[in-house]
Amino acid sequence: MHKDFISIADYTKEEIEAIFDLSAELKEKTKRGEAHHLCKGKSMSMIFAKPSARTRVSFETGMYQLGGYALYLSPNDIGIGKREAVKDIARVLSRYNDIIMARLFEHKHMEELAEYATVPVINGLTDYNHPCQIMADIFTVREHRGHLDNLKITYIGDGNNVANSWINLAAKLPMHLVICSPSGYEPHAGTLAAARQAGISTIEVISDPKAAVKEADVVYTDVWASMGQEAEAAQRRKIFMPYQVNSDLMSHARRDAYVMHCLPAHRGDEITDEVIDGAQSIVFDEAENRMHVQKAIIVTLLNK
Ligand code: CP
Ligand code: NVA
Repeated sequence: MHKDFISIADYTKEEIEAIFDLSAELKEKTKRGEAHHLCKGKSMSMIFAKPSARTRVSFETGMYQLGGYALYLSPNDIGIGKREAVKDIARVLSRYNDIIMARLFEHKHMEELAEYATVPVINGLTDYNHPCQIMADIFTVREHRGHLDNLKITYIGDGNNVANSWINLAAKLPMHLVICSPSGYEPHAGTLAAARQAGISTIEVISDPKAAVKEADVVYTDVWASMGQEAEAAQRRKIFMPYQVNSDLMSHARRDAYVMHCLPAHRGDEITDEVIDGAQSIVFDEAENRMHVQKAIIVTLLNK
């Protein structure tokens, strides 16, 4: 088992499935109110260089439920890579904490953090990927469908960190993954090439949303301007408007297709109110499962 959780690409199918089994077990215990203090006496520092609701609250609450302690370090606290070198922070926090979770801008900083930390590092999002999100997402799909056989996932929108992690997952679990982005906003080319090379899934990158959602079991979207791209928001809105997930687009997908979004959503942009609040939406199950899956990731890393 890899020391850190930086990318789904570092994990095998069996390791991913073991995390899902543990997630399900911990979720059941949480629902039953049964204590599961698997991280008693352990502490986790959480470095946030960007804002967060779900990642912060799910990790912090999850660590509490595991009997451990999580410390929140805001964008003003550490200034990773600015106030202090990444490798120094990695070595300092490793002297205090048993595990580190970080949300950073640059992916190379995440890799450097993991390289110099002597304790496990969990990636809570970078500009390049968002592995905990996609682990929770596919776990949610498995819960709702009961299995992951013959799965067609269509991701509509920006070829961003979330899209890249979907591609990483498709290199491990078989699926038909369609990424539908406007020209110039496709996902990371190297990630795509590596996933296709793995030969596990069919991965298409197309630009026609109606064709993309045809026969989809899941229609997934995310914001058009990610954190750090706020200055481009107005220009992106014009380019991405044809990629809005609305009821017209959903009428071209399977009638029982699930709608997913990692949240936060910009209602009225990438997704309309009627779709995100509609019967096909499972966005809040998805948000809840961040906590259960991340608890399993923490326990797995601390017990290896
Ligand atoms: N989906 C997600 O990571 O949400 P936050 O940015 O609120 O943590
Ligand atoms: N792509 C989004 C995901 C937020 C969870 C961003 O990076 O802002």
